Amino acid sequence: MTPEVTAFFDNATNTISYVVRDPNGTACAVIDSVLDFDYPSGRTDTRSADQIVAFIKDKGYECQWLLESHVHADHLSAAPYIQQQVGGKIGIGDNIKIVQDTFGKVFNEGTEFQRDGSQFDELFVEGDSVHIGQMRVDVLHTPGHTPACLTYIIGDAAFVGDTLFMPDFGTARCDFPGGSSETLYDSVQKILALPDDTRIFVGHDYKAPGRDVYAWETTVGEQKAANIHVGHGASKDDFVAMRDTRDATLAMPRLIIPSLQVNMRAGQMPEPDDKGDVFLKVPVNKL
Ligand SMILES: [Fe+2]
Repeated sequence: MTPEVTAFFDNATNTISYVVRDPNGTACAVIDSVLDFDYPSGRTDTRSADQIVAFIKDKGYECQWLLESHVHADHLSAAPYIQQQVGGKIGIGDNIKIVQDTFGKVFNEGTEFQRDGSQFDELFVEGDSVHIGQMRVDVLHTPGHTPACLTYIIGDAAFVGDTLFMPDFGTARCDFPGGSSETLYDSVQKILALPDDTRIFVGHDYKAPGRDVYAWETTVGEQKAANIHVGHGASKDDFVAMRDTRDATLAMPRLIIPSLQVNMRAGQMPEPDDKGDVFLKVPVNKL
């Protein structure tokens, strides 16, 4: 089974969103959509999401799923907006509950913020499968970058979110609360155990030394042969030492504070106040 994959690159956050269609019909899913957010003005914009909505409508596709690979820390999810426009159920990993617990504390959310994942339509665990039309989606739990990270395997394609990036860029950072480089190494081994010709679609691309164009599609075989962090049979000890050293030098993503508050609510803003105004918090010295 070879699903039709259409990629949408978001320049502001280097995110790749995907529309994945059952080749035998019109059913499709959207993976990791982006709601534009201008931090200085606090304004949201649906320009990026509207490209996906227009694509789905123009093609006459039926959106059945809005799949999140994890709670993103660098962009806001547009899943609820796209759901409003074209339908579909919003799914994420069951460990979202851990992420909600962690960041519920960081943002001092009251008891009205549920930490049971109930903001999402579906919570997945390892081994679950759902369908996009006739096409099966298998769920692999691939934590390490965050506790709730999933890889969605759809036919010959694996949507790996932030685990592996392109071979010349390596892997995702593991220093967010609940992240672990040791765990990521083990998760990556699960992905690399897929057939060599499995197409891998990554969640971000930042170009790489010597590469001046964005790229997002590679294969398991290429990752095993050439990934600068985990290819060439890299050992766990070497990977963990490299990853932890590198992570200690990385700045927080520009949109981490708004992203977490929105994405842990399945892409919804916090409840408006009694005047109907919506506010996001900035926790001081807590991240
Ligand atoms: Fe991420």
